Amino acid sequence: MPVRLHVNVDHVATLRQQRGTPYPDPVEAAVFLEQAGADGITVHLREDRRHIQERDVELLRALVKTLLNLEMAPTEAMVAFAERVKPDMVTLVPESREELTTEGGLDLVGERDRIAAIKARLADAGIQLSVFIAPDEAQVQAACELGVDTIELHTGEYSRADDDEEVEAELERLAAAAKLAVSLEPDLTLAAGHGLTARNVADLVAAVPEIDELNIGHALVCDALFVGFTDAVERYRLAIDAGEAER
Ligand code: PXP
Repeated sequence: MPVRLHVNVDHVATLRQQRGTPYPDPVEAAVFLEQAGADGITVHLREDRRHIQERDVELLRALVKTLLNLEMAPTEAMVAFAERVKPDMVTLVPESREELTTEGGLDLVGERDRIAAIKARLADAGIQLSVFIAPDEAQVQAACELGVDTIELHTGEYSRADDDEEVEAELERLAAAAKLAVSLEPDLTLAAGHGLTARNVADLVAAVPEIDELNIGHALVCDALFVGFTDAVERYRLAIDAGEAER
């Protein structure tokens, strides 16, 4: 099955929030993206509400036909929100107010009991659970022991690597983490995301054949400023297909 492309529309909302205007609307963006072939829509409802608002998620829930993935911090308030709005999938991410974007992965080793309790509540509400973790053996093992539906590997270090050696090392780290995850839990869905662009995504897909799903936001929304969402999705689809052809 081809690698699925989930598009994160947070930064459409960033532009809106910057001026307090009703536009541009991330919900409208989601409609274009689905028509262009995106396999899912992702949003991060942050505690500081700097981009996506609760109303956006509610409207997306009503409109998204593919899959709605809600990224959120593992807090009581967010779990209660997810239980009410019922996205198809929740991705738990660490969150701090000062960060420009999600900086690290979750500490599943340290927070196992808390995440297990959240997993049970989301499962009762019919919501799949994904966890955003660094490509680290201990975190992958903890995620598999928790029995999550999806592991999303943090590709931030890969995206920031700027010489060939560093890029290779990050790809090897991601490939090893993915292999371990799938060997421990063959039915697991393996996702990856953060900092991915039309330039770096093909090498990732080629080097990590276990990847089933990608979450791409900032760079795709930026590209869409110049070429529109339809062509931007097409550009990423072609890059992902090129990576798959090299597997
Ligand atoms: N995956 C997760 C879990 C994230 O938190 C983010 C950023 O919101 C992304 C993917 C998308 O990252 P980017 O906007 O850099 O493509």
